[in-house]
This record gives sequence, structure tokens and C-alpha cells, in this order.
Amino acid sequence: MTIPVRIEPLEVDDRPTAVAMLGEDLDLPRSVSESYTKPHAWDQDWAAWTGDRMVGLVTGGFGDFSDRSAFEHFNLPAAPHAFLYRVFVRPAVREDGVGPQLLKYFMHEAAGRRCTFVVGYLDRNGYVRERRRFFERMGFNIGPDDTFGAQPTAVLEAVAMDQR
Ligand SMILES: CC(C)(COP(=O)(O)OP(=O)(O)OC[C@H]1O[C@@H](n2cnc3c(N)ncnc32)[C@H](O)[C@@H]1OP(=O)(O)O)[C@@H](O)C(=O)NCCC(=O)NCCS
Repeated sequence: MTIPVRIEPLEVDDRPTAVAMLGEDLDLPRSVSESYTKPHAWDQDWAAWTGDRMVGLVTGGFGDFSDRSAFEHFNLPAAPHAFLYRVFVRPAVREDGVGPQLLKYFMHEAAGRRCTFVVGYLDRNGYVRERRRFFERMGFNIGPDDTFGAQPTAVLEAVAMDQR
């Protein structure tokens, strides 16, 4: 079953709710959840809602990541690129299609900025195998050292195919 969500930029007043939601995942270091108390220097946050309940978030930024040796493996096409810093779904609503909707939203943001490629690092705590499988199902290639990358269109196609 897919729970339909509304995705919007994370407002300052909703940051305490985001921190509390991230804190529900005991695998996530507290320093990570608390880093959402304030806006990040480079990345933007968007939150997913069902009614007035926050159920997930996606964080990322846009720029030129050609000089990051970690992503050499992907032979990055010309900038701009997108960096997907985190996709997170509230533990109680996982496996209900919220993660794919957050990725779809971020891919539209990236495509709207003419980003040719999206990169990131997979989290290494907890559920590593499940996370790799999820990203592969969503159209990403997994590179060395748990980097991931894909063209926004490849992810949009994978998400569309995935809708059950
Ligand atoms: C990864 C994540 C965003 C997926 O979102 P979702 O809404 O549950 O996605 P879906 O409904 O498509 O499906 C569930 C998939 O997530 C996997 N999954 C379940 N719990 C998970 C967990 N704690 N961490 C990672 N993946 C998990 C399942 O194995 C399933 O994959 P499968 O169908 O191939 O077996 C979500 O599980 C999550 O927030 N995990 C914790 C944070 C994280 O790992 N973020 C990604 C790294 S930045």
C-alpha cells in the first residue's frame, strides 16, 4: 500500500517536529537528528506530511561535484549536479512508499535546476543491505565506499515502475 504524502519545504516552526521524528530512529546518531534544529549551510530540507503528521524528509543540495574524487567512479557529466544528503521515513510508516515519493520530489527539484546527475553516500548504520537494495530498486548505481549515483530521469523511471 502506498500512503500519498504532501511534500513542502521544511518551515522553521516545524524543525522541532523533524528533530523528534529523526530521534525515533534509534540507529541514527543523536548528532544527526539535532543537526536539523537549524538550517544547514548548503543543503535544503523538504518534509512529507499526511494531514498534520510529518512522516518523512529529504535533504539535499545543488552544485558542481566534479572535483570530489569519491564520485570519480560515476564519470559525472557536466554540472550542475545534485547531492542527496538524506532521505528519511518515520519508522512507523516505512515500507509504504513514502521514501519513493520523497525521491521523486527531489529528482524533480534536481531536474528543474537542470542537474545532470545525483550523487550521495549511503548511511552505514543499521540495515545496510536493505538500504542498498532500496537505492538499487530506485534506479541508483552503488559505487565504491557506498557512494550512489544516477541521472534524475533514471530514478524517475524506476520510481514510476515501482508504483504498486
Ligand atoms: C530507506 C527508506 C528511506 C525507504 O523508505 P520507505 O518509505 O520505507 O520505502 P519503500 O516503501 O519503498 O520500501 C521499503 C524498503 O526499505 C527497506 N527498509 C526497511 N527498513 C529499512 C531501514 N531501517 N533502513 C533502510 N532500509 C529499510 C526495505 O527492505 C524495503 O526494501 P525492499 O522492498 O526491497 O525489501 C526508509 O527505510 C528509511 O528512512 N530508512 C532509514 C534512513 C535511511 O536509511 N535513509 C537512506 C540513507 S541516506
